[in-house]
Amino acid sequence: MSKILIISSSVRTNRNSHRVALYFQNYLAENHAGEEVEIVDLDKLNFPIFEERLSYQKSPAKKTLEFAEKIVASQGIIIVTPEYNGGYPASLKNAIDLLHPEWRRKPIAISTVSSGAFAGSQVIISLQFVLWKIRSWVVPAQFPVPNVETAFDENGIPTDQKGTDKRAENFVDELLWCMEANEKMSK
Ligand SMILES: Cc1cc2nc3c(=O)[nH]c(=O)nc-3n(C[C@H](O)[C@H](O)[C@H](O)COP(=O)(O)O)c2cc1C
Repeated sequence: MSKILIISSSVRTNRNSHRVALYFQNYLAENHAGEEVEIVDLDKLNFPIFEERLSYQKSPAKKTLEFAEKIVASQGIIIVTPEYNGGYPASLKNAIDLLHPEWRRKPIAISTVSSGAFAGSQVIISLQFVLWKIRSWVVPAQFPVPNVETAFDENGIPTDQKGTDKRAENFVDELLWCMEANEKMSK
């Protein structure tokens, strides 16, 4: 059994992109029961503003150690990120910078989210670059979500279940392929 983490990046009051994280959790449970799935919610983790990488911290917090362990133990990750002023939220960069070797060769698929029509399309390049720089393996697939408030309800149920599942199938397939390839090469 592989483990897939869904990183929900938004810590904003009344956030909506978390709906997409919930959708992926539901989608994977229904369509890929063989995979273990967990949401890593940066709002719940509430990391302080970055002061030092985990490996250089003298007395790291338990939640930081647990976060690192989860990243290492996972075979693949979906990052759900909103777009703020053309970029990704500080909460996400804060969490990425905390770790380093833990991200290496980790297959990561990115879902961008916005309340408008452009689906957070401007955030993808900058986030891809940061993940490439930290030596993770950015999966060449997209799951852009426009109009998030009308596209999903608060429980992550999509308005267009069939169409959304079809897009998720292609996106998740790419992630699973990369996870499998990575596992074969790592043996
Ligand atoms: C500070 C801020 C900046 C934003 N900038 C953009 C933007 O550049 N492009 C865009 O499409 N939406 C932008 N939005 C709208 C967000 O896409 C929308 O609020 C979305 O729901 C964000 O995800 P969240 O609700 O999980 O925080 C911005 C929202 C905030 C709060």
